[in-house]
Amino acid sequence: MKIKFLLMLTGILFFLNSCSKDDNITANTLEIPVANAPKDVNDAGFRAKWMYVSHAKSYLLDVSTSENFSTFVPNYNAKEVTDLNEVVAGLNGGTQYYYRVRAKNETETSGYSNVISVVTTGSSNIPEDPTFLKVKANKLANPFFVGMAVKASQLTTGSPYDVILKNEFSSISAEYEMKMDQISTASGVYNWTTADKIVAYGNSNGINVHGHALVWHNSVPQWLKDFSGTDAEFKAEVKKYITDVVTHYAGKVKSWDVVNEAVDDNGGAMRNTIFLQRMGANYVKDCFQWARDAAKAAGDNSLLLFYNDYATSTNIPKQDKVFSIVDDLKTSNLIDGLGFQMHNNYLSPTKAQIQTDFNKATAKGLKIHVSELDIQVNQSNDISTFTNERRLAQKEKYKEIVQLYNALPAANKYALTIWGMKDNESWIPFSTELNHPGNDWPLLYDSNFAVKSSHTGFLEGLD
Ligand code: GLA
Repeated sequence: MKIKFLLMLTGILFFLNSCSKDDNITANTLEIPVANAPKDVNDAGFRAKWMYVSHAKSYLLDVSTSENFSTFVPNYNAKEVTDLNEVVAGLNGGTQYYYRVRAKNETETSGYSNVISVVTTGSSNIPEDPTFLKVKANKLANPFFVGMAVKASQLTTGSPYDVILKNEFSSISAEYEMKMDQISTASGVYNWTTADKIVAYGNSNGINVHGHALVWHNSVPQWLKDFSGTDAEFKAEVKKYITDVVTHYAGKVKSWDVVNEAVDDNGGAMRNTIFLQRMGANYVKDCFQWARDAAKAAGDNSLLLFYNDYATSTNIPKQDKVFSIVDDLKTSNLIDGLGFQMHNNYLSPTKAQIQTDFNKATAKGLKIHVSELDIQVNQSNDISTFTNERRLAQKEKYKEIVQLYNALPAANKYALTIWGMKDNESWIPFSTELNHPGNDWPLLYDSNFAVKSSHTGFLEGLD
């Protein structure tokens, strides 16, 4: 009796369960798949990837050279694939492609996924592609350099990094290898090896070289921190360093950040650094004077001297202080430009804040270098993957700043430099310096060297 009852109950449960499954199938519309960044990008193709959609039996893959899919790469117009990835082959090197997918089963086809863009790696002799940043920037009525922060170890000829750098960027800044603690090993003793490699790379490939940075409180070599001489002797050491470095690179480096981050974040005061303590309030001007004198003595009358700092668009007391330093330098004709680091995020600064900051610089006749641009999308650590919403917000923010920059008068343009190539090599994720609490995706390429929507945003900013 008990067994009979149990069997009946199991039967009823089975019946109910199969009914609800059927209901699911008929009521369910196929979800839109999420396309992922490609893998195995090479000269002739890549592996397109996407996420599983329940009830899908296959996926329809489109590949195109236009973002709106007005044409298709032959054989990739709704190509049916049963797997969650597909090797797309037979493509051209150094070319931008886009892909998207739809999910499909016997009865229906979903909407289109997000669009993923990817640039195949390229060998030499790649024709100039209008979707390469510098190619588009060079065609502007008033062109400017598109810069990239580099490390010497990344500059291996023929690597994907090297190919993208040469294709897309017209200026480089050393991410850290041209700072004082890297070059100066003891009083009057220099290690030029890595810095020379970066400068030679730029010079031999027709890429502009921006020097970053002669004096910065976070890159003081240990011997100088420990320096036990008088203040006057300390000052002589800094003068010697600036003079020797500017002389060494005269004619090879187009511009220098002479002083980086001299203004405090609170109240617009001078930052209380070893330079302020040992050399006095006039130290910024002294450094600019020594840089100018060294360049002239070496026959370089066109070296551009920049003051570089961050968060001036949102921190108004800081902005005011930076411009008062600029005024002081201007009276002695010692400054040519202002570096706006722009370690921004997808919400801040606003367009209006940046515009006001830029306007002040143009009114003073300065060149503007957006010197370290990256745009965080996870500054509050509220996402664990790079969401579509943040991808689009970041794209808009890149577009906005490029538009603002491109609208500057010709005389005020210099370079717009991105602080790193791939998201996974950026200094932002988990940065202790920034107190960044989590992962982030702040740049123009993902960890596979695939261009992101932010890259498209940059291009659109140039329209
Ligand atoms: C500052 C400096 C840069 C670099 C970044 C972190 O912005 O100016 O040189 O060190 O911090 O990458």
